[in-house]
Amino acid sequence: MRVALGVAGGIAAYKAAELARRLQEGGLEVQVVMTAAARQFVTPLTFAALSGRKVITEMFAEHGGDEANLSSAIEHVAVAQDIHALVIAPATANLVAKLAGGIADDFLTTLYLATRAPTILAPAMNVNMWEHPATQRNLQTLAERGVRIVEPEEGYLACGMTGAGRLAGVETIAQAVFQALGAAGDLAGETLLITAGRTEEALDPCRFLSNRSSGKMGTALAEAARRRGGQVILVSGQASVEPPAGVTLERVRSTEEMAQAVEKHVQEATMVLMAAAVADFRPAHTATTKLKRASVPPALKLVPTRDILGEIARGKKPGQLLVGFAAETENVLANAESKLRAKGLDLMVANDVTQPGAGFEVDTNIVTLLFPDGRQVAIEKMSKLDVAHRILDALVEMRRKSAEPKTDAPAPPRTKLKRAGKSR
Ligand code: CTP
Repeated sequence: MRVALGVAGGIAAYKAAELARRLQEGGLEVQVVMTAAARQFVTPLTFAALSGRKVITEMFAEHGGDEANLSSAIEHVAVAQDIHALVIAPATANLVAKLAGGIADDFLTTLYLATRAPTILAPAMNVNMWEHPATQRNLQTLAERGVRIVEPEEGYLACGMTGAGRLAGVETIAQAVFQALGAAGDLAGETLLITAGRTEEALDPCRFLSNRSSGKMGTALAEAARRRGGQVILVSGQASVEPPAGVTLERVRSTEEMAQAVEKHVQEATMVLMAAAVADFRPAHTATTKLKRASVPPALKLVPTRDILGEIARGKKPGQLLVGFAAETENVLANAESKLRAKGLDLMVANDVTQPGAGFEVDTNIVTLLFPDGRQVAIEKMSKLDVAHRILDALVEMRRKSAEPKTDAPAPPRTKLKRAGKSR
């Protein structure tokens, strides 16, 4: 999800840099927009370096199309349509007044008028300016319009006075943004139980059987789901990527541990996505001390592990959506199709791990989505985060469809059927 971070001209402008970083840690893309006054306090370069994007500084290119400015007469509309939230921190008394009055004389104030995304304001100013009836009236007007105000804190102010007016803490503002996005996301109200990574089945305290899964696909799903407002429970086996912030995390090693963690949370989950590469077999015996060369059995005895997804499918709650993943090396679609049916899933994500740019370790994937009605949707090579969004799009679509009234059901009779007239 993308947010615009508006920075107005106040001493607290430097704190917006920390906010930009916090929002990014929360998985958001941040487009910084600075007012001319803000640039007196912090340079756009600081924000450009932090956000990895050019900073929008003014409405029209000041220097005849200066490439450094992303400004154009229509760009505010593009940004306004592209963002999922607008957060302004710090918001000065002057900016608050302009927003309340609908004045649009620079990029930030124009963006506020042009966007339908939720807006969050974190004011910061001198205590007398904060308490002035003009400011209070303006804030009230904005609050009545649905703007969320993150109230400033009391304390020592840069002007030397003490009182209300200090910019709220970065975490408080960030949480207000996450909350606003959660309410706006299309997975709001859903709890997604996602597994990621690989399981490890111990042979002895030093050795294990495992596979090449990196955990990137499951982690991308967790990140994408959280950005879209879902509550995410991530059960992660070993992985080469860090889990995203803002999810409930359960770390596991073996298939049995993964099964238990999934079991613990499955009742609260409205969607279950088993992206983990789970071992199908484990050693029949795990030695408690390191196996010595002389004592290693010539043939390793393996026993099957629990089929976690299969177990969930058998006890599936009404309305719960189950997604499986099939990493295959041959007969990809046929194998995936039979697993979809055998496990009774709502969606199967198949990929051929032998294809370059797909499967283990790489950041991209090439998948086909298989649906129970026989539909197959091939998705071209794209980043695992984008693939994650496609999978979630499919689930959101299923929810939308099942909420629609059935059109193929016979229309109810206009008059009450009499016993004699009832068709048998
Ligand atoms: N899975 C599971 N528990 C297991 C093995 C697999 O929950 N013990 C899940 C995987 O996370 C995946 C789906 O089942 O979502 C398909 O996994 P896969 O290993 O491809 O299928 P299997 O049913 O194990 O069939 P096979 O290994 O024979 O291809």
